[in-house]
Amino acid sequence: MPQEQIDKRKKIRIASILAKKERGEKISMLTAYDFYTAKLLDQAGVDMLLVGDSAAMVIHGHKNTLPITTETMLDHTSAVTRGCRYALVIADLPFMSYHISKEQAIATSGRFIKEALAEAVKLEGGQRMAETVRRIVQSGIPVMGHIGLTPQAVNQLGGYRVQGKSSREAIEILEDARALEEAGAYSIVLECVPAPLAALITERLTIPTIGIGAGVHCDGQVQVFHDLLGLFSDFVPKHARRYANIGDEIKAAVAEYAGDVQTQAFPTDKESFTMKQSVLEELAEQTAQQPA
Ligand code: KIV
Repeated sequence: MPQEQIDKRKKIRIASILAKKERGEKISMLTAYDFYTAKLLDQAGVDMLLVGDSAAMVIHGHKNTLPITTETMLDHTSAVTRGCRYALVIADLPFMSYHISKEQAIATSGRFIKEALAEAVKLEGGQRMAETVRRIVQSGIPVMGHIGLTPQAVNQLGGYRVQGKSSREAIEILEDARALEEAGAYSIVLECVPAPLAALITERLTIPTIGIGAGVHCDGQVQVFHDLLGLFSDFVPKHARRYANIGDEIKAAVAEYAGDVQTQAFPTDKESFTMKQSVLEELAEQTAQQPA
């Protein structure tokens, strides 16, 4: 997006996201977890920022998304909302923060809206979560669904595999999408489903689909920030495209800094503070008088 267009942006709201689908305009979403990154992504013109529970992996180094807590996600979400002016901020509800009861789901969602100033929440699950979605929406909180590969169910799914390859599974995912739409979700993430299935779901729904590994026909796309910028090198998912290799740039810059410290090329006078010669002389005199 050209800079003048970014500068003229209006705050993105749920209605703007729905209007984009109606106009056939694509929607961009990226994950963000901290203040400065959120500020950069917002200034770059992305439509929605997702404070994803992928933070468990890419920020905290866990092997899956399950361990992250509501408190930690609230901290990440507050940092992102403080850095963000235009994009719509969605908070991911952590594992087990909405599964126990509908009341628990409403209470957790409410904390993200009241304490961290998120504008919507995202939760995983289709038909089995539809009533929970309905109740959260009834309490005035916009909900984004998430179906297909649902990483919080990794132990049940037995790994991170493409979902919906058989007709039985595909019908199930379509039913999940319909149930979420009917329950009042404003949008749905489709993760790792075959592109033709995502296209069919996108055509059948009036709410926008946001794909990750779901092909080009979704109404929008979401990626994990670290995958997009080459910050996470343990593995590169097939659906990710590297737009930069910031990880390599960080390593090169830090190696140069460490080298400069060793050789005393850093800091120079330019990066140091001086004091008046008279003060220095006074100091020398006073410290010389002190007993050793
Ligand atoms: O947590 C996350 O980053 C997500 C996206 C992959 C959609 O849920």
